[in-house]
Amino acid sequence: MSGVSENRNIVLGITGSIAAYKAAELARLFVSRGYTVRTIMTQSAQEFITPLTLQSVTGNVVMTDFWESAQPQNIEHIEIADWAHAIVVAPATADLVARMAHGLADTPLLATLLATRAPIVLAPAMNVNMFEHAATQENITVLRKRGIHFVDPEEGALACGWNGTGRLADPWEIFYNVRRYLAKGDMTGKRVLISTGPTREPIDPVRFISNRSSGKMGVALAQEAFVRGADVTLVHGPVSVKKVPDSVRRIPVTTAVEMHAAVLQEYGAEPYDVVIMAAAVADYRPKYVAEDKIKRREFKDRIEMVENPDILLDLGKQRKDSKRPVLVGFAVETGEIDELLEQARDKMKRKQTDLIIGNFASDAFDLDTNHVWMLDRTGRQEEVATTFKSRVANRILDAVLRL
Ligand code: CTP
Repeated sequence: MSGVSENRNIVLGITGSIAAYKAAELARLFVSRGYTVRTIMTQSAQEFITPLTLQSVTGNVVMTDFWESAQPQNIEHIEIADWAHAIVVAPATADLVARMAHGLADTPLLATLLATRAPIVLAPAMNVNMFEHAATQENITVLRKRGIHFVDPEEGALACGWNGTGRLADPWEIFYNVRRYLAKGDMTGKRVLISTGPTREPIDPVRFISNRSSGKMGVALAQEAFVRGADVTLVHGPVSVKKVPDSVRRIPVTTAVEMHAAVLQEYGAEPYDVVIMAAAVADYRPKYVAEDKIKRREFKDRIEMVENPDILLDLGKQRKDSKRPVLVGFAVETGEIDELLEQARDKMKRKQTDLIIGNFASDAFDLDTNHVWMLDRTGRQEEVATTFKSRVANRILDAVLRL
């Protein structure tokens, strides 16, 4: 990722759980973001998913055996332990957790885990009773004390028929947590409030006014700020936040008035360091919400619009210290670049923000990429050419940290 140095060699350990198939998805996530992934599988993992699957996804030979080294001149588990910037075991069975707690090294995976100095992240998956068993819990406590990180299993229906905690965390959840352990953490301890998505202004029980915002830019900002160590709160309109890490606090809202209340309440309650208004807030709402569906013939006479509060404007007005929190706004425009920059500058001044991100609707809405111009209060102007929203997010966070 631009702007934030992340070490990029991941060793993925897979042990024998029905959730092993999800490890392929996790490997794919890392590979698609430019990480190099090498996999180590236990014997029982291979009953659930083949090494060929992981080899195909990662482009690297899978280590399954002590004695079949791809590079015979090396002691492979030592070489791979040294090569890793992080080792993630997903899924990690009760057996793996127990053996690791005792320092056993009788499989390539255990030997690598014992030999490495890289951070280790375990994502357990097992039957709820096995997970809650005193032995497993004590082993987890021992490992945590030794600095091993955990991405806790989820609660829900388990493959074994039981309900409870034991289901492997979502691959996205594991992905962002591993990245957080890998990143240099230049936002550690910083509180960041982000708004995203459209708002929906109801007209009657079946209709509303909204816009084409997908919320992806704000979601990317929340994900990347989390990776960089920040403590993130996301106030979001009706968009999918499935890929946002669980530790990001989410506040779902629907209307602009609700978003205004939620953002200002947060702003007053917590000492935020950064507030980013990435939401596409509707400027107007119908004055009355009809209780019954408005008939076609009555429609144009029944809709009276009133202005919504301007959240960013109110934040700018309320900020007492002129430096904190850093206020960031977006300006989505159509037309020519000169107009975009002028509008952006005008919005930065009017809403008293420190940074404004200008972009064209055609470059941003509903896309995974964006092309933006960043203007800050010191007069600095920077263009970020079309790239993934995750990269744009990191460039924006870099600009925030400079202020
Ligand atoms: N914004 C806000 N509350 C509103 C409208 C906008 O907080 N009611 C924020 C947006 O989240 C964004 C910035 O203000 O960060 C600029 O939004 P935009 O809609 O482009 O600005 P407007 O002031 O509505 O100007 P325009 O006349 O261009 O619509």
